[in-house]
Amino acid sequence: MCGIVGYVGPRPSQDILLAGLARLEYRGYDSAGVAVIDGDGALGMRKKAGKLAVLRDSLKDAALADGNTGIGHTRWATHGGPTDENAHPHLADDDKLALIHNGIIENFAALRDELLADGVSFRSETDTEVAAALLGREYRNNGGDLQLAFRGVVNRLEGAFTLLAMHQDHPGLVVGARRNSPLVIGLGEGENFLGSDVAAFIEYTRKALAIGQDQIVSITPDAVTVTDFAGTPVEAEPFDVSWDAAAAEKGGWSSFMAKEVAEQPEAVANTIRGRIQGDQVVIPELDGLDELFLGINRIIITACGTAAYSALVGKYAIEQWARIPVDVELAHEFRYRDPVIGDDTLVVSISQSGETMDTLMAVKYASERGARTLSICNTQGATIPRESDAVVYTHAGPEVAVASTKAFSAQITALLLLGLHMGRVRGSVADASADVAELAALPEKIAKVLESEQEHVTQLAGWMADTRSVLFLGRHVGFPIALEGALKLKEISYIHAEGFAAGELKHGPIALIEPGQPVFVLVPSPRHSAVVHSKVVSNIQEIRARGARVIVVAEEGDAAVLPFADEVIRIPLAGAMFEPLLAVVPLQIFAMALATAKGLDVDQPRNLAKSVTVE
Ligand code: F6R
Repeated sequence: MCGIVGYVGPRPSQDILLAGLARLEYRGYDSAGVAVIDGDGALGMRKKAGKLAVLRDSLKDAALADGNTGIGHTRWATHGGPTDENAHPHLADDDKLALIHNGIIENFAALRDELLADGVSFRSETDTEVAAALLGREYRNNGGDLQLAFRGVVNRLEGAFTLLAMHQDHPGLVVGARRNSPLVIGLGEGENFLGSDVAAFIEYTRKALAIGQDQIVSITPDAVTVTDFAGTPVEAEPFDVSWDAAAAEKGGWSSFMAKEVAEQPEAVANTIRGRIQGDQVVIPELDGLDELFLGINRIIITACGTAAYSALVGKYAIEQWARIPVDVELAHEFRYRDPVIGDDTLVVSISQSGETMDTLMAVKYASERGARTLSICNTQGATIPRESDAVVYTHAGPEVAVASTKAFSAQITALLLLGLHMGRVRGSVADASADVAELAALPEKIAKVLESEQEHVTQLAGWMADTRSVLFLGRHVGFPIALEGALKLKEISYIHAEGFAAGELKHGPIALIEPGQPVFVLVPSPRHSAVVHSKVVSNIQEIRARGARVIVVAEEGDAAVLPFADEVIRIPLAGAMFEPLLAVVPLQIFAMALATAKGLDVDQPRNLAKSVTVE
């Protein structure tokens, strides 16, 4: 939530800031702004409500003098609506100082009262302007030492924040700080960058430094200094970004979402790569960490949204292979209900961004209570893996569209790998060869679904563009896929959608069925369980008898569904735990095609942001 970029170096900074903001726009797109210290040492600022294009147009219409030091921000509103005044940067010290912020400053009201009493006046309704005004006051009280003043400010703030600031009396210097909110450093030759994530500067450098919690950074063209909030120097952790600028471009695709759906075979292949040895799963990052999985009597998987649905698939797989009870907990519920956890609990967190505040807080809470922690994450240098005892990266590449697709598939893949890895370590999987073969075949099978069903499902969505409500039913590992199908549809097409466990139907939801109600039914293979298959076929008959329009997702050759289906979407044959990775693909295509048919922006749906860094 909110994208932040900072630059110091020889190049004109506006282009760099705008390019960085374009790559970070998925984090928030209510408003955007930049501030630059120009060649004459004067600070200029422009900010506009609306998407980044509005700011760009404004800069085209009336240029802002350029310089070599700048900061930029793209906003997802928290305090105060999306207006020009509430957009960042916020200015202080007679408009010579600019500050941008991601997060929520919880004690802003008290600080604001203090500053008002001191004669400060405010132009916006934001918590950010309070931090800017506080910095202005500290700066004056500290005789113009920006770094000292900045340290004074961060020590007074409560809540979550990434802050960047600069002052026109210090061209060539940008200071930043983070607490529970992301910030990474990009290292260039004679230039340096700051960003909410590496996408902000990937065009210029793939060398990065991760900054820890409660740390302050100062960048100049030739130096990077990191300290803790007390001013003690600390070492930042270097890493190389494994993908390049092209991976974060739309290429020839109509949307990032279309590109990312199509990239799923590659994302899954990359997640598996290097983690199969012979007919076993061995995750090299977990080498020497067997004790994480031994002597535990319970696993809790915690995540939010789509990531939590991947966790539900993981529960089935890990219980089957590692023979240990697994609970799935929404991260925001977990830490507020006094759960029973301790050193015999492994808490696995799942997060594409690695920055979701709810999930981060759940991980910290689990660690504080002595649980072992492991994260499944797609973003190098992110906070959640840094707070965990171990990490398994998904390697899906950058996911830019707000609705998660390839990251979801990669998360399920990582959970399957983890289940088989744990099964081997715990001695509960005697022979993994059939499952390893299933894993290896996944990329090709996903590619097959994309090829064979894209046109059919797109056509189906076109016919259903006026639909007001869609239901999704699944059973076993098909249940989380029903939930995910419904979430994808509601978040990008704004159509009411619900996912249900098929067995739950007659306990209430069947009352929703009326003639013409579209219902997707995910039918598990009869090869896995004839009983479960026949129960789902019975559910189909029950809703058909009440007039539902039934769209079935079933494996090739399953003829039992034909008499009761209005439409049949086919997926290749796969093992029980692997079917979700195939069944979800048509549901993603359906949501995307339906939103497109309604003329909606599938990459940036209303009210949402990709990385939810506030609680
Ligand atoms: C939905 C979606 C969200 C995220 C959730 C967690 O398409 O993307 O539900 O899955 O906000 O995000 P991460 O995985 O970054 O923690």
